[in-house]
Amino acid sequence: MSRKFYITTPIYYVNAHPHIGHAYTTIACDTIARRQRLLGAETFFLTGTDEHGQKIERAAQAAGKTPQQYADEISSEFRRLWKRMGISNDDFIRTTEDRHKKRVQELFRQIRDRGYIYKGTYTGQYCVSDELYVDGAQPGDPCPTCGRITETVHEENYFFKLSAFQEKLLELYANPDFIRPETRRNEVISFVRSGLRDLSISRSTFSWGIPVPDDPNHVIYVWLDALANYITAIGYASSHAAARQAFKKFWPADVHMIGKEIVRFHCVYWPAFLMAAGLPMPKTIVAHGWLLFEESKMSKSRGNIVHPETILDVLGADALRYFLLREVVFGQDGSFSFDALVQRYNSDLANGLGNLASRTLTMINRYFKGEVPYPSHAASRTAADDAIAETARKTIREFDSLFEQFQFSRALEAAWALVAAVDKYIVENEPWALGDKDDEESRSRLATVLYTAAEALRIVTALAHPVIPDATAKIWAQMGLGDIQKLALSELAWGQLPLSTKLGEIHPVFPRADKSAIERMQKMEEGQRSSPTHEPSAATSATSLPPAAAAPALPSAADQKISIDDFAKIELRVGLVKVAERVPKSDKLLRLEVDIGTDVRQVLAGIAEAYAPETLVGRKVVIVSNLAPRKLRGFESNGMIVAASLDDGKPVLAGFLEEVPVGARLK
Ligand code: ME8
Ligand code: MG
Repeated sequence: MSRKFYITTPIYYVNAHPHIGHAYTTIACDTIARRQRLLGAETFFLTGTDEHGQKIERAAQAAGKTPQQYADEISSEFRRLWKRMGISNDDFIRTTEDRHKKRVQELFRQIRDRGYIYKGTYTGQYCVSDELYVDGAQPGDPCPTCGRITETVHEENYFFKLSAFQEKLLELYANPDFIRPETRRNEVISFVRSGLRDLSISRSTFSWGIPVPDDPNHVIYVWLDALANYITAIGYASSHAAARQAFKKFWPADVHMIGKEIVRFHCVYWPAFLMAAGLPMPKTIVAHGWLLFEESKMSKSRGNIVHPETILDVLGADALRYFLLREVVFGQDGSFSFDALVQRYNSDLANGLGNLASRTLTMINRYFKGEVPYPSHAASRTAADDAIAETARKTIREFDSLFEQFQFSRALEAAWALVAAVDKYIVENEPWALGDKDDEESRSRLATVLYTAAEALRIVTALAHPVIPDATAKIWAQMGLGDIQKLALSELAWGQLPLSTKLGEIHPVFPRADKSAIERMQKMEEGQRSSPTHEPSAATSATSLPPAAAAPALPSAADQKISIDDFAKIELRVGLVKVAERVPKSDKLLRLEVDIGTDVRQVLAGIAEAYAPETLVGRKVVIVSNLAPRKLRGFESNGMIVAASLDDGKPVLAGFLEEVPVGARLK
């Protein structure tokens, strides 16, 4: 029988439109769920919306809607967005659904029947924004979590005997895997050690909630209602036998993924409710940090939110997914900026994986009629071939263990180190040069180099699939490997790429983004901030394409036309950067050695502020190759590298989406 795996996101409050902070939690869970499916686990991935409580009731009032109308609208926004983001949830629970309401009442009854609920009077402070009772606070005191002024509540309520669970909870935390990471675990332990007071679990001064069984003047405290989603959705207390069977199979959850501000609810209240009901404990609760924008937590109340749709429209879902998991060190807070997003997109996706795929597959097409070639036997193998295989094996192991530890950024870093190693391997082994010769030995060497590159590409693609499902599915199909969903990740190993596989049709998967992408996204967000509701844009996935290679020698004034003969005087060629280094005492200049097919040129280029030298080695550039030599800082420069010049003077190098041979002339 196959292993089961049950993972949940928190359910999202419907008082706010979804932003990329919400997307972050969901994406993290989605990648884990996708990976578990590929590992063969029978996986259940749950998300949903949290729709009751005073906060929602008030937000609906302010919007002039009934709470149900209001919840319907925002809940469907979340669902639409998750679809566009490729979220593979197996169910979506809404706390206003009948199945949920009935089962929450059943949970309340069960806890009451076991003696853990009593009636009493609560007088104290309450934070509506966090739906949190603030013990020990005085009227006028702020909420310790969000800083808003608390409201005084005086009500006859039902209480939960939280105080009865102090010791049992501490025993539970003895398991270091129960709360992760360690810092959160320590916070929870000291909170519980300091003593637990009984918790009010009903409200009677408003009505937007689930009625307490047998006492409909009270509604159940929204956090008891919300936390219960993790069991109601999978069939707890269902009247259907099949649903109860699902509950038996999937509960306890393997992972509850949450943000750090809701640790207390999940690590103290939730296990105590479960203990009181006599139900098993979840296995792991993992808390991530916050996504910051403009230096503070991205949130509706601060107004500093970024809508996921903006990024989906301009760069696509994979870009957002990759960025959030690669850029934020899991568990810590991380900053979002459009600059960083586009930079990561270009360096890791367009120039990294995308370029590796297109150059490797294009060469297999050209030199081996689109069939994966046989690597040669011992005689013509080199240490470099074996080193790539070894790096790939190590990458699989590292990626697996880092992913298991929720260290997504480090896992991706490891996989992309393999991309860089293969890039370097390709540059050093010059398959294009081998391809020009037709002796037996060059042919066999070429086969080995391209096989090695393709096999490494297959491994990175498989590892990255849960994170960037769209692009990797395309690369997989281009490699002729069929449906990537059928991949058995637990068996991934070097050397499985079938020989003679016929490649599919090749298209670039990550077109480069230019600076206009940043501007477009910023403009879209500015537009959003002035309008209160967000309407998803009609555009589907218009990715901005790279600027056309600029010919800097052309006169810029429109009336000053030149003839085709004038243009023919300018010799533009594809060059390959072999060496790149800073020019001493210059902030702007890099000294490059560029192979242009016929010879290797030394060129000085004013691009040091935009490109780190190590990122240029192995890259193809466009060079004006018949420019008269000139001296700069004591170095002779033989040619000029072509780049687009942006408004702020920043250069962006011209390049190619398809594989081009070194020395090819541009005309
Ligand atoms: O807390 N950065 O819902 P919610 C990272 N309904 N994560 C963020 C974030 C940010 N800037 N902003 C929000 C609730 N999130 C309750 C949960 S569960 C039984 C009930 C994350 O909509 C946040 O950390 O306020 C949490 O994991 C999720 O979005 C839902 O937040
Ligand atoms: Mg919140």
